[in-house]
Amino acid sequence: MRATRVRATGVAALAVFLAVITGCSSQILRIYPMQKQQTVAVGKSVVLTCQAETQDPALVTQPQWKDPKGFVINEAAPGTRPEIYTEAMPAKQSQLLYISSITQAMAGNYTCVATYTNMPLSASVVLDTFVAITWVNANENQFATKGKDFKIMCEVTAEPAPSVDWFKEGTTIVTSDRYVIHANGLLIKNVEESDDGTYTCRAVVIQTGELAERNIKLEVYTAPEMEEREPRVEIKEGESAAITCKARGKPPPTYSWIKANTRENLATTSRYSVNDNTGLLTIDRVEAGDYGKYICSAVNQAGQNETEIEVEVLVPPKIFELFNTTAAEKTDGRLECKATGRPAPRISFRKRSNNDPFLNGPNEEGRIIIESSSRQTGDQMQSSAVISIARLNRTDDGLYECIAENEGGEARKNGHLTVQFKPTFEHMSNVPVWSWNSQPVNISCIAESIPNATIKWKFHEYDLIESPHVKIYGSGPISYVTVVPVDRNLYGVYKCIATNTLGEAEHIMQLREAFPPGPVLQVKQDTITATSVSFNIVGPAEDMGPPTLAFTTQYKENGNFDWNLSMNRTWSVNSPYIVENLTPMFTYDFRFAAVNQVGAGSWGAPITVVMPRRSPPEQPKWREAISSESLIHGKFADRYELQWKIPAHNGEPIDMYEVNYCPVLKVSGEWRVASETQCMVEELRSYEAISYEVRGLHPDTRYRMQVRAHNVLGYSLPAQLYVQTALGNPNGSTSIFQWAPSKMDILTTLLLLYFII
Ligand SMILES: *[C@@H]1O[C@H](CO)[C@@H](O)[C@H](O)[C@H]1NC(C)=O
Ligand SMILES: *[C@@H]1O[C@H](CO)[C@@H](O)[C@H](O)[C@H]1NC(C)=O
Ligand SMILES: *[C@@H]1O[C@H](CO)[C@@H](O)[C@H](O)[C@H]1NC(C)=O
Ligand SMILES: *[C@@H]1O[C@H](CO)[C@@H](O)[C@H](O)[C@H]1NC(C)=O
Repeated sequence: MRATRVRATGVAALAVFLAVITGCSSQILRIYPMQKQQTVAVGKSVVLTCQAETQDPALVTQPQWKDPKGFVINEAAPGTRPEIYTEAMPAKQSQLLYISSITQAMAGNYTCVATYTNMPLSASVVLDTFVAITWVNANENQFATKGKDFKIMCEVTAEPAPSVDWFKEGTTIVTSDRYVIHANGLLIKNVEESDDGTYTCRAVVIQTGELAERNIKLEVYTAPEMEEREPRVEIKEGESAAITCKARGKPPPTYSWIKANTRENLATTSRYSVNDNTGLLTIDRVEAGDYGKYICSAVNQAGQNETEIEVEVLVPPKIFELFNTTAAEKTDGRLECKATGRPAPRISFRKRSNNDPFLNGPNEEGRIIIESSSRQTGDQMQSSAVISIARLNRTDDGLYECIAENEGGEARKNGHLTVQFKPTFEHMSNVPVWSWNSQPVNISCIAESIPNATIKWKFHEYDLIESPHVKIYGSGPISYVTVVPVDRNLYGVYKCIATNTLGEAEHIMQLREAFPPGPVLQVKQDTITATSVSFNIVGPAEDMGPPTLAFTTQYKENGNFDWNLSMNRTWSVNSPYIVENLTPMFTYDFRFAAVNQVGAGSWGAPITVVMPRRSPPEQPKWREAISSESLIHGKFADRYELQWKIPAHNGEPIDMYEVNYCPVLKVSGEWRVASETQCMVEELRSYEAISYEVRGLHPDTRYRMQVRAHNVLGYSLPAQLYVQTALGNPNGSTSIFQWAPSKMDILTTLLLLYFII
């Protein structure tokens, strides 16, 4: 074994010797990679392999690595991984050197040694380090603020030192008014929104040829800018309200609200809530005290901005005072109305009997003045208004409505102004009170006044004394005296005296004795038919007694002397005094009396009437007052209803009415029948008939219509009228079908015209 080893050593020594002399000893120890000098970036890992290359591995010891200070580098203990260690691979006569992360301190000359047949062998390699391009402060997302200067940070280290240049979206940036390239970044002056974009920071190390690029996205932030809005909002008491606040800005701002006077943050105040993302301020159950200035502020990374909003709380008016008042006629009166609300209520007055309110200020030439004022009370406004009325009239009495209005609503309340006045009897009549035969009567007295009057009675200037025949009821404002005038002395002048705080008034009433009327002064026969007669009656003078209420007549056949068997007829005053159902050609005696509340007067004014012979009936009369020449515009195009009163039959019963109607024309102011052939006649065989509807008329045509009554003695004179039918179709509505005259109509019309000419 030893001999072998020596021999091997001898071979190796020879080889080394040969190697030394040929300069090829490295052919025996080789380091991979083979460059003598290797440059490695700091932080990178390095693996070097040292390999002995001989035919006979037995002649070579296992190679070893030495660090730059000449210390052998050990193999790693099992389960550890030091920064630097070696690992043997005997089968391949190799020794591996591992550096897991090289540092600058590890740079230097590393040597691999071994012996070959006792001859030392060595090979070495120089490890150089360099620092690669490293981004120290070069965030890929950076944010600038509009209007300010901003440096896009791109701090880069390398060894050797790098040079840095800049691009924006492919275009080279050079130092200019706006851009300054600093060692650690790109300064942009007065940033604009258009500076938004992606910038490229490029680092180059000329010595190593290393190049690195970093894309930096720059976002330009803008400070919040408040959107235009109404500087004032109105919200309603008791309701909930929302007030918006909006600002533009990048990134979207967050909002906060404070109340200007208290500076309290509304996000933490009860009844208020703030949405800090949308800026919406909501207020629950708004209170009057919520009015005032509010500040909304918006903030983001770029800045802050705020706006002030005036909030008015609308509180509907409440009328809390309106007293009824009282004042005397001709003095001055006033009503005062007080109301609270927000904003200050406007107060007006209206008399309940009028629709329009009084004007603010003077009314009725200054007699009625309305003055109002307002002031703050607590969180609300209080308004008060006074309506003053000078020289009060009785008509000023009444209910006055106070109307308080503001933007929140309105309130109304009534107040009564009582106008006092002294008693009057203006609604009492001066008609005497009548009595007769000791009939009890009431003499009543009603005094109008405010306040109510008390009433006293006098008779013949002395205080009225009650007695069994005189009783006083009521002492005001209504009083009456019941008198039983058993004695003439109780007739006379009764005086009612009414008194209140403002004065007194008196009213005189006469109690007079009543008598039946005197005789009728004069009667004349007026119109007469075969069966009826009417009279003109002149009654007796009335100054002695109560007014005449009626006239009565008794009548009998002449020659019959007994008035007890007479007939009678009574008419109220001023009606037609007609007696009917008399017999033709008879002679009657009439006598007359006047009637008042006491009874009938004596008979007088006798008159004898001779009835005419039987004759045809009287001319009928239209039910309505229509003269025989009237032209009536009918409501219908095809019909017209005639209505008449039954005339006197003149001794023989009416057995028939005859209705006739003809189309007519007015020629030179005269009515002419256009065509006799178109005249129609209808006979109504009834005594009772009082109307007839004429049908089948033409539209827009004039007709003459007549009605005659008939009895066995013949026809009466006709009642007559003219009618113009309505336009249009028979239903009354307009129609395109107008009356087309027949050939006959045209012919007769032409003939008629010919005769007139
Ligand atoms: C005021 O007068 C009116 C009408 O006369 C009456 O209804 C009302 O009760 C009065 N108000 C007061 C407070 O007296
Ligand atoms: C008088 O008036 C009273 C009360 O209205 C009434 O009861 C009485 O009957 C009247 N007397 C006469 C005679 O009218
Ligand atoms: C005044 O008189 C009237 C009528 O009798 C009555 O209804 C009213 O109550 C009286 N008023 C007063 C205040 O007494
Ligand atoms: C009027 O006549 C009726 C009967 O027709 C009779 O009852 C009455 O008493 C008469 N009146 C007078 C005032 O004659």
